[in-house]
Amino acid sequence: MKSLFGSITDLSKFFINQVIEPGDYVIDATAGNGYDTLFLANLIVDKGKVFSFDIQKQAIENTKKLLSKKGIMHRVNLYHTNHIYIKKYVHNKIKAAMFNLGYLPGSDHSIMTRGESTIIALKQVLELLLPGGIVSICLYYGHPEGKEELKEVFSFIKTLDYKIYNVLKIDYYNKIHNPPILIIIEKR
Ligand SMILES: C[S@@+](CC[C@H](N)C(=O)[O-])C[C@H]1O[C@@H](n2cnc3c(N)ncnc32)[C@H](O)[C@@H]1O
Repeated sequence: MKSLFGSITDLSKFFINQVIEPGDYVIDATAGNGYDTLFLANLIVDKGKVFSFDIQKQAIENTKKLLSKKGIMHRVNLYHTNHIYIKKYVHNKIKAAMFNLGYLPGSDHSIMTRGESTIIALKQVLELLLPGGIVSICLYYGHPEGKEELKEVFSFIKTLDYKIYNVLKIDYYNKIHNPPILIIIEKR
């Protein structure tokens, strides 16, 4: 039987799955190989839209290929740009956003998310988030830049007003080698 909490991305999807309904608008802030975009596109069906961003051409191509293969590319708007420009492209209120941080597996590891831009994007996403909506952030800190990003993300989420947001931090208590951390932000 498949483990429910075995991977941090499955765990993030577990939460996202609770809130998305057909017709919702949602964001994938880091499209990568397109797996999260595909997951979101399957939930919003034909009435909603997934807005997916990535700074790497390869990621955009991989995502387009995956969604086209599944026949649901029309549910996705893909943007080959930095996610600091989210608000330039997304004008709808959104139900959920996913941030799967770090680098594209099997690609240039020097191109990765950085704390400064991640926080700019997070702020924009929170402005677009509907009450009851959720933002998931998967954090990997096995590399020095990841450690720095984790520190910056932690300092930012600590400032979020508890009267407006519930912020959850989930980590694996018994795993070794810097296991990833999941942050879930719910707008009340
Ligand atoms: C861990 S991967 C994402 C995995 C992806 N969600 C999936 O399902 O395959 C992280 C991605 O973030 C992208 N990225 C890094 N910095 C970015 C930025 N500032 N804006 C948008 N994308 C960025 C990388 O190019 C990489 O593809």
